[in-house]
Amino acid sequence: MHAKSVLYAVLASLSWCAAGVCCWADVPAPPVNQAIGMLDTLFGELAEADCRACHSSGVQDRHHVLYGQPIPPGTLAPHPDADSNGVPDTIYGCLNCHDSSFAPIRDCTACHTSNAHHKTSAATSHDCVSCHGDVVNNIGDGHYIPTYAPSDVTPSASCGDGLPLNSRGKGAGACDYCHDDDGLEPPTIRTNSDLHHATTYALDGALDCLVCHDMRDPLNIRVCEGCHGLDSLHNIQADSPKASNLGMIVVGGEDAGYGHVGQDVGPGASDCWGCHGFSLASAPGSGPIIPTVYSSDVASIRAGSNATITLSGASFINTMGTKLYESAVALTAADGSSVTLIPDLVLDEGTLVVTIPGDTAPGNYDVRAVKDRFSSNPAAITVVPLVTINRAVADGRVTISGRGFGGYARGSGTTVTGTVVSRKLAPPRILEATIISWTDSTIVAQFREVPQTVTVNSVFGQATSRVSSDGGRR
Ligand code: HEC
Ligand code: HEC
Ligand code: HEC
Ligand code: HEC
Ligand code: HEC
Ligand code: HEC
Ligand code: HEC
Ligand code: HEC
Repeated sequence: MHAKSVLYAVLASLSWCAAGVCCWADVPAPPVNQAIGMLDTLFGELAEADCRACHSSGVQDRHHVLYGQPIPPGTLAPHPDADSNGVPDTIYGCLNCHDSSFAPIRDCTACHTSNAHHKTSAATSHDCVSCHGDVVNNIGDGHYIPTYAPSDVTPSASCGDGLPLNSRGKGAGACDYCHDDDGLEPPTIRTNSDLHHATTYALDGALDCLVCHDMRDPLNIRVCEGCHGLDSLHNIQADSPKASNLGMIVVGGEDAGYGHVGQDVGPGASDCWGCHGFSLASAPGSGPIIPTVYSSDVASIRAGSNATITLSGASFINTMGTKLYESAVALTAADGSSVTLIPDLVLDEGTLVVTIPGDTAPGNYDVRAVKDRFSSNPAAITVVPLVTINRAVADGRVTISGRGFGGYARGSGTTVTGTVVSRKLAPPRILEATIISWTDSTIVAQFREVPQTVTVNSVFGQATSRVSSDGGRR
């Protein structure tokens, strides 16, 4: 075992609550609901359906564009040495991921066995916000962290000593007053420590203990505030079942227990109380509650015409006092360029309808709900190019120009076929061409016999055109 992981195993088996709080009290509290943020479960316990809930589009394309690309060291491809020459292959071929039957393995977790998210460069460079959205801050992004010495009303990382105790006998004034496991054996909803430690790969040295802990004063919230600034904490809230404003989040006007700023009348039934042990009419910085996106009803749209998508999520609209906060939508391309779209309709705090303009260029986009200074986590949508043939010209070979042809790999279903009608009453014959060259905009195909029409079967769809003869044009 790695030396650091030995240290970790030893340390993690300790608890830094000095005096254990006794007794289980019969009051409601942990675990919290799972309406906003990522699920409080471990990566290793997710099933294929969970992966596909977020990765709903383009899974196949994302793997297939890796064909011909270099295989990274430590690849999780099931057949790293597909040609069985005793040396790991360096370039992805079909057989690195498939066996010769090509029966696809659909269970993500068969290959993705270790934490796929927290080994990304975004995570190892501490850009947690890029996936989690603004329910957290990034370390060093300039957000406010108090510099005064923590006081009695400053929340601590764990081991609160405020009353009343929760159902686990834990005191108010700390995160684990509410964020704790579900008490099942084994738990599905995990403790804060399990959840953060599962992402650490602190073991790889990528995320040090000191990123999250002041080892000399571990209950001090200041280090945690590196990612959990008070401005974000004071804007985390889900809708409660309160009948008078169902479907709309009202800061200070919700039932207690659904977030951080829903109910500010205390002591017992106040959200403030769990962190501070006091209640005030409003928390500094509260206002635009941070939105969460679960999914888009459409994951893949066709370029060229407007497409209406419906986002489901949480906290798309809220009020604070007389002010209404409503989410817009940010559509961000892979190169980072972004446009803001105004929703057609916000049905309630969890449903938003927006139109993606038809002139949006093909590619993968992140869709986020944006409210005031806060963005949600992203959902991915793919704008698939329209497959169009402008011209197909025969000159021995057939040269097809257009767009949306994508890439070509023999045996993968990407083909050019031609229709030959030799005699009026005979059924047309379908010929498959040999591909001489293939780019996104031009294909040169060789037929045994020049066809009257050609059909391009690209990874993005199909297009058919008549073939004109070169001679006629000149
Ligand atoms: C809560 C939503 C969510 C769930 C559940 C989820 N993912 Fe992801 N995943 C993301 C986001 C967001 C990204 C980053 C954007 C992207 O690459 O699509 C990502 C990225 C990835 C990546 C790419 C990492 C890289 O190298 O860039 C892999 C691989 C991956 N996920 C696999 C999985 C697998 C396997 C599962 C199920 C065990 C899963 N994901 C479950 C949201 C999710
Ligand atoms: C990096 C790994 C990887 C590579 C390389 C790869 N594939 Fe796949 N392929 C997958 C995965 C994963 C799926 C299943 C996707 C899903 O279930 O959504 C898949 C699915 C398929 C399917 C099933 C389509 C269907 O829906 O029935 C075929 C056929 C296929 N691949 C052929 C190929 C061919 C041909 C190549 C080489 C040109 C190739 N693959 C290269 C990972 C790969
Ligand atoms: C047959 C094995 C296999 C299966 C099954 C599989 N993957 Fe992958 N996946 C890979 C390989 C190999 C890579 C490339 C990274 C590597 O080589 O380590 C990859 C990469 C990815 C990436 C990153 C692609 C990029 O942008 O570079 C995502 C996202 C992903 N997989 C998600 C999934 C999801 C979601 C599923 C299930 C629906 C799934 N994978 C099923 C083998 C697989
Ligand atoms: C590539 C996208 C991505 C990045 C970057 C990322 N995460 Fe995550 N994170 C996820 C996804 C998806 C989940 C839920 C599935 C899982 O556990 O992998 C998650 C789950 C978590 C959880 C457990 C769930 C919860 O609600 O407590 C914690 C803690 C966490 N991440 C911390 C971090 C930290 C700290 C960083 C930055 C150093 C970070 N993440 C960066 C995608 C990401
Ligand atoms: C009074 C109870 C309570 C206390 C104390 C509390 N939270 Fe929360 N927190 C909630 C509730 C309820 C939610 C909403 C959960 C949901 O519906 O997904 C929430 C959501 C969150 C979220 C959004 C992402 C997620 O995983 O749901 C973060 C981040 C968070 N809390 C951090 C903290 C931190 C850090 C502390 C300690 C400084 C803390 N909370 C203390 C009740 C509390
Ligand atoms: C991504 C943030 C993060 C990283 C990195 C991290 N921890 Fe933690 N750790 C937490 C959180 C959150 C808790 C729960 C709150 C608390 O008890 O302070 C926790 C709790 C603990 C506890 C208290 C016992 C327990 O499990 O509840 C110990 C001991 C601990 N961590 C040790 C370590 C060590 C050693 C490392 C480095 C190998 C480390 N942690 C890295 C976030 C982190
Ligand atoms: C490097 C950034 C980072 C640091 C430092 C950090 N956290 Fe977190 N924390 C996260 C992320 C990311 C999430 C997941 C938010 C989500 O659900 O989308 C999270 C979630 C939480 C939650 C919500 C419940 C849960 O586990 O999902 C609590 C409570 C929490 N953190 C407490 C702490 C405490 C206490 C510390 C200090 C000991 C700490 N965090 C340090 C990034 C961090
Ligand atoms: C999830 C925990 C949490 C909840 C719930 C919460 N706060 Fe806070 N609040 C904090 C943190 C963390 C700070 C920063 C304190 C520090 O670091 O000294 C803070 C700071 C404050 C401050 C001092 C501001 C400053 O500039 O230092 C006030 C006043 C306050 N909160 C009021 C409230 C009220 C009122 C509520 C309920 C409506 C509330 N808080 C709910 C975590 C929380």
